[in-house]
Amino acid sequence: MTREAVLSAAELIYPLFVRPGEGIRKPIPSMPGQHQLSIDTLVDRAARVAGLGIPAVILFGIPETKDAFGSDNYNPNGIVPRAIRALKENVPDLVVISDMCFCEYTDHGHCGIINSPGDKHYRPEVPKGYLLNDPTLELLGRASVVHAQAGADVIAPSGMIDGMVNAIRTALDEANLDHVSIMSYAAKYSSGFYGPFRDAAESAPGFGDRSQYQLDPANRREALKELEIDVAEGADILMVKPAMPCLDIIAAARERHNLPIAAYQVSGEFAMLHAAAANDWLDLKRCALESLSGIKRAGADLILTYFAPDVVEWLEQ
Ligand code: PBG
Repeated sequence: MTREAVLSAAELIYPLFVRPGEGIRKPIPSMPGQHQLSIDTLVDRAARVAGLGIPAVILFGIPETKDAFGSDNYNPNGIVPRAIRALKENVPDLVVISDMCFCEYTDHGHCGIINSPGDKHYRPEVPKGYLLNDPTLELLGRASVVHAQAGADVIAPSGMIDGMVNAIRTALDEANLDHVSIMSYAAKYSSGFYGPFRDAAESAPGFGDRSQYQLDPANRREALKELEIDVAEGADILMVKPAMPCLDIIAAARERHNLPIAAYQVSGEFAMLHAAAANDWLDLKRCALESLSGIKRAGADLILTYFAPDVVEWLEQ
């Protein structure tokens, strides 16, 4: 009766990984219970998730082939656009959010175009190996239009590329896709907790790390500035990521902004709880629910979590 932060299925978003093939359910070793799925098994899984009352999924693609520009991401017949069309056909009431980033599609594993001699984008005044921000914006706009035309309800840019929300909003509006929303990974830290995800999505950077574009975990004011910029650029939902190390940022986002605030309980947070539970060091259900309650109590309206289907079961018990 006196409980303040009550979890429910309606605020959960479930991440799914889609890869080419048929009948595939390839387990992700560091993320117990999670799989890389082919489009057919993805549709089955999504239908079950929707049946539990979970309103939305977010899609990550593992393409057949990768190249310097991540072209599968803006190919209308790429893995994610095809998956979106299948989901919209078979599970029409499920909200489909498309993660919008290039790291899963580029052969170098970075989140955009890399400055390299010989490429038409090459800029001698910029250090080699740097991510070229503005040329990347163009590709983000192009890929977002392709995903939205396939039926994505929400585009979720996750690369921390400066100007990404504005570029995507402009590209969508120019393509008459003004009904499509943007959930921005607005305050995304350069975090070690993404480790298992990079196995799951096969997206680890081939050299260096993502600290050129993602936030330094020591910085709070910079995160607040990033949130403000994304509001000004037209984001519809603001996300903070990862969740548990960033509860202060979630609380600050909730206090300062009137947009829905989402928090991503990332792969490492999920993996830690499972690993401890597998050793009988922690009670999985109790600790997962406690973590999620804390994220909600901090101020998150929406939570992206690999526990989403488990949570619904646990809450029903
Ligand atoms: C893509 C992206 C990442 C995650 C979500 N989108 C990885 C990264 O930035 O390296 C991480 C999700 C997770 O760890 O669960 N840019």
